[in-house]
Amino acid sequence: MSHDALVLLKRDHQEIRRLFRDYGRATGEEERREVVQRIARVLLVHSFVEEELIYPGIRASVPSLAPELLLASEQHRLAAVLVEQLTSSAATDERFDPKARLLIDLVGRQIEREEEGWMPAARQALGRKALQDLGADIATARDQAPQPGPGSRIEQVTSELLGHLPGVPG
Ligand SMILES: [Fe+2]
Repeated sequence: MSHDALVLLKRDHQEIRRLFRDYGRATGEEERREVVQRIARVLLVHSFVEEELIYPGIRASVPSLAPELLLASEQHRLAAVLVEQLTSSAATDERFDPKARLLIDLVGRQIEREEEGWMPAARQALGRKALQDLGADIATARDQAPQPGPGSRIEQVTSELLGHLPGVPG
């Protein structure tokens, strides 16, 4: 199994896109809410891996990518706000579906931007060996990743992300 960091991240992206399609096909509030819970979990783990490991690793090796990585990080923060609001609101809320569609739109664009932007640049700059090493770190981090839930590292990261936005209750 490939441990190339970019291959692993793109696999996540595929899963996220698949869940987005599931949301589009979901019929009824209960099913929409259930798909949103799955999206929330996959997105938070993916953002966690990117924020904790990938962006710092890429940035250290290719400083010129810093603006692109900071933009991606800001997009994670916005997505975290939407995820937080979605997972704490009822699917019957009239704003639930528009919020979910906004999340899908935002994250869909971010995925495209990553795959066309810093990823090819990082592949060229880092080369195969460095990306394999980074990928091995992802696999290890995932194996050890705490489950989402009260007090988990993922929850801490989410609240840190939320904490960067003024006026958003943490
Ligand atoms: Fe990503």
